[in-house]
Amino acid sequence: MTQNEFIQLLTIQLAQIQEKKLRTKIYLAIKAILPHLKLQQDFKCPSTRFLSENLGVSRDTLEKVYAQLEQEGFFLRIKGKGTFICIQQDSTKLILTPTHSLEADIDYQLPENTENLESLFFDQNLNFFADGMPEIRNFPFRKWYENEKNVLSQQGLKIFLKDNEAGDTLLREQITQLINLHRNTTISPDQVLIVNSTQQALYLCGRVLFSPKDKIILENPYYSGAYILFKSMGLDLHCVNLDAEGLKIQECENIVNPKAVFVTPANQYPSGIQMGEQRKKEIIEYAEKNNSYIIEDDYDALLLNKSKNTAILGLDPYQRTIYLGSFSKYILPSLRLSYLVVPKALVEPFKRYRNYIDGSAPSKYFQVLLANFMQKGHYFEYLRQMQHLYLQRYQYFIHYYHLYLADFCLIKDHHPSMQIACYFKKEIPISLERALVKSAEIKGIALTALSQFYEFDIEYGFVLGFSSLNHTEIGLCMAQLRELIQNELARLT
Ligand SMILES: Cc1ncc(COP(=O)(O)O)c(C=O)c1O
Repeated sequence: MTQNEFIQLLTIQLAQIQEKKLRTKIYLAIKAILPHLKLQQDFKCPSTRFLSENLGVSRDTLEKVYAQLEQEGFFLRIKGKGTFICIQQDSTKLILTPTHSLEADIDYQLPENTENLESLFFDQNLNFFADGMPEIRNFPFRKWYENEKNVLSQQGLKIFLKDNEAGDTLLREQITQLINLHRNTTISPDQVLIVNSTQQALYLCGRVLFSPKDKIILENPYYSGAYILFKSMGLDLHCVNLDAEGLKIQECENIVNPKAVFVTPANQYPSGIQMGEQRKKEIIEYAEKNNSYIIEDDYDALLLNKSKNTAILGLDPYQRTIYLGSFSKYILPSLRLSYLVVPKALVEPFKRYRNYIDGSAPSKYFQVLLANFMQKGHYFEYLRQMQHLYLQRYQYFIHYYHLYLADFCLIKDHHPSMQIACYFKKEIPISLERALVKSAEIKGIALTALSQFYEFDIEYGFVLGFSSLNHTEIGLCMAQLRELIQNELARLT
């Protein structure tokens, strides 16, 4: 559609809408024609000046309409470039969705006397589409310090001592409340075991639940953290393809005596597919029938949409689910705090093994600080800000993707999260992936290649993380990636 066709369509709509207030009428008319643009994602809307001249309406009125559409997330206005429509994908089709306001990013809350830190935070090479890296610049450091001061004065030196227990009591309670509320589960604190990382949780599963050569089912593409670790433990891995609902459990029927199914159902890593409830129930029945465990890695579920998406743990009546959660994506990755939720009888063996390999629970100090931070409500407030921010950044990413990357890559149906799998188009040579990773490496940039996550039916491309980048940084990185691709393509052809 051209801008003149847009104006013609708008004029027709205006004649049909029975609304007295001109501003509302124009607003409704534009919204009515937006669906016509949904397949033309790079469409640039007429400027308010051009529209004002053509419709004979004051520019001030049009500015207000555009501002409202931007507030509601339909428009993206970029200084010096123009106004673009925002398109979001849902799992079945392209839709136009007013999800959020596109105001500037939330203000950074840097600690006092650290003005110089801000420039240090963004390292274009380090952050370059870093996969799954959270934004840490918005972390409420002042509240954290305040909390630390209070905790130290109330609890004294005991928080510096080693702890061999399952974890800090308050932290286990806070985690229980959080996931019962947001993941529709009904667990109790005595099912929660605090560990250092998801990797450690997976290692404990390998030691406590499995023996070498046991068969473990994983998704294809898979989370490499689980794949590599399980492989190193001598487990017999069986990868199974996905469909739009997640792991194709019907394809597991001929796997004899599987010991566990490892899945990332809230947001399949790296494809971004969200598993449907029916499929979750089928996996639960499959596990019950085969006397297997389900390992549910719920690594970023609390950052995803607010609609209730019940965890497998919340649907499983047979207590076959080992649930893994991590604070790495939600707060500061360097805290190294994660947790397992297991049937009560398994807490003791898991705890014993954790203490064999680590000597104790993770840092009591950070556990107590985090527990108190959560209890005061700061954690959830921060999480809500991050949900909003990442959705905003997702929209920016999609916008720049269409400007810079869509010539080379495709995005498939996925759920918005912190990273997106970008698949090479058919005409792009697959050797480009390796060549690009190498040339980026020379520049000090780590690009995450997509093919490394497949055992078969391999797809090529990249997994691009956008959550640690603000609007300008996403644009900068995207332009740089396009240049890298163009240079490498020229060398390869
Ligand atoms: C699929 C998946 N699970 C879990 C995690 C969190 O791992 P950890 O708790 O070891 O930081 C990540 C982090 O990258 C991940 O991608």
